[in-house]
Amino acid sequence: MKNIQRLDKILSNMGLGTRKEVKQLVKDGAVEIDGVAAKDSSMQIDINGQKIYVFGKELVYREFIYIMLNKPQGIISATEDTREKTVVDLLSKELKSYGLAPVGRLDKDTEGLMVLTNDGQLSHQLLSPKNHIPKTYYAKINGVVTEDDVERFARGVILEDGYKTLPSKLKILESGDISAVEIIIYEGKFHQIKRMFVSVGKQVIYLKRIAMNKLELDENLQLGEYRELYDSEVELLKNS
Ligand code: URA
Repeated sequence: MKNIQRLDKILSNMGLGTRKEVKQLVKDGAVEIDGVAAKDSSMQIDINGQKIYVFGKELVYREFIYIMLNKPQGIISATEDTREKTVVDLLSKELKSYGLAPVGRLDKDTEGLMVLTNDGQLSHQLLSPKNHIPKTYYAKINGVVTEDDVERFARGVILEDGYKTLPSKLKILESGDISAVEIIIYEGKFHQIKRMFVSVGKQVIYLKRIAMNKLELDENLQLGEYRELYDSEVELLKNS
């Protein structure tokens, strides 16, 4: 099946620079289509049928990029910001030119799994409230977390604005003055987990996302590190 796109769009989607920069590449004669120098950066190319070479090297076209980032604290989940450092700022220059955006948000002080992609359809699927995609977090709580909290979370708790949360799964890992828990939520309201604990009289003091859908954070990634997802991991993210 044909997949026709403008040459400059293909080149910039592939991380070769901005539209202006790739136009210059074409002008400089660095780009060939099926062995013939490209004349114009606006020309239409069939990605499935034609071969593109840049500086003599074949360009292997990939439409979608999926990145797993271990988000550190102090970074905001946005693509750009005038004052704050964003998750996109952590990526290499090449990756930045793919137009990647974070799938959902984590608070500035939350760590852990953040997926970035230019696959808008998958992003929409994962964020749509009606899909109830599970998100798993590890949290440290100031206060003794009890079986009563587990039951209350399973029924759904009422937040301070009157919203009743969907049932969530709370697992106590350690119960004490400072407790450690794992929690799975199926929605993504603003500060949701922090507010859920406030509703049972406790405070989240550390929060880390460890899974989204069936995709788990790679524990080998240090804070601030990222890598592309394997194909099998993209499937884990897609399948519910
Ligand atoms: N719940 C929160 O309170 N914060 C997050 O960053 C994610 C879920």
